[in-house]
Amino acid sequence: MSLRITRRALIGAAATTISAAALAACSKPGSTSTPGSADGATLTIYNAQHETLAQEWMDGFTKATGIKVTHRQGDDTEMANQLVAEGANSPADVFLTENSPAMTLVENAGLLAATSEEIRGQVPSQYRPSTNAWTGIAARSTVFVYNTDKLKQADLPASLMDLAKPEWKGRWAASPSGADFQAIITAILQLKGEDETLSWLKAMKQNSTAIKGNSAVMKAVNAGEFEGGVIYHYYYFGDQAKGGQNSAKVGMHYFGHQDPGAFVSISGGGVLKSSKNQEAAQKFLAYVTGKDGQAVLRDGTSFEYPVASKVAANEKLKPLSELDAPTIDPATLNSPKVVELMQEAGLL
Ligand SMILES: [Fe+2]
Repeated sequence: MSLRITRRALIGAAATTISAAALAACSKPGSTSTPGSADGATLTIYNAQHETLAQEWMDGFTKATGIKVTHRQGDDTEMANQLVAEGANSPADVFLTENSPAMTLVENAGLLAATSEEIRGQVPSQYRPSTNAWTGIAARSTVFVYNTDKLKQADLPASLMDLAKPEWKGRWAASPSGADFQAIITAILQLKGEDETLSWLKAMKQNSTAIKGNSAVMKAVNAGEFEGGVIYHYYYFGDQAKGGQNSAKVGMHYFGHQDPGAFVSISGGGVLKSSKNQEAAQKFLAYVTGKDGQAVLRDGTSFEYPVASKVAANEKLKPLSELDAPTIDPATLNSPKVVELMQEAGLL
């Protein structure tokens, strides 16, 4: 079941909690239990990851454990804010994000339980925060997509920071309202500091065109409306897999050199401290970060990178180990500050 978050859903959240508690009280332990679920409870996932990917994980988990899963769909900021507003009364057991800053927001509100040892054992330390309040579940790379008719290799920017130079005026696009792009800015902030980030954002306001959605950015680049755009890698591979209608004339430029533009963003999974289904919730994240859950990333249509259980990436992707991404502790990424700076620059 999927439910877009609406004002009504928000108001209904408290009622949902009550009915869930009533249901739990009615079920006799062992009477209708499913394997691995002491009271036959249904897990509630607040999902901000791409819905098709999350659905594959949820279906796989239910098949493997018998534990039922339901979810609510929204974007990173929307879901994180909702969790903070609901606090201990949230019906959510698990939160999945596209990018880690939203998870950090919820962590900083003190709402996350520590991840289990099983999960930590499966996920290398560079793909989870130093705090262990949540875990990485997938990774995505920043790329500069460019129109191959308009730009040659030699014309490509050496650094993401170069796109602030006057020579790039009117030539590139991005989706500043989206959580994906905002995560990239958290990396710039962490690596370059507040002053440099703000001047870059102000230059971006002058130089770039805002388009809603990463797919739309790539489509516009493909059509030659812009020479380039800043998005994540998987939008390209997803379109290629569907026949390449919006990416036939698109080239992929990975910045490398630990440039802010080589930022690899981590999708997160966390268990809510207030969850009445701690064991099943931890089990869900153990599944997602386990061999079967990570294989969904390798074999499915998300084209995101696996980060755990030694599962290799889809062979079409440039290997994660070759991206030369900057080293950043995701726990340090500060999305409220980025929103503030982007507002100051007139981008939001
Ligand atoms: Fe995305």
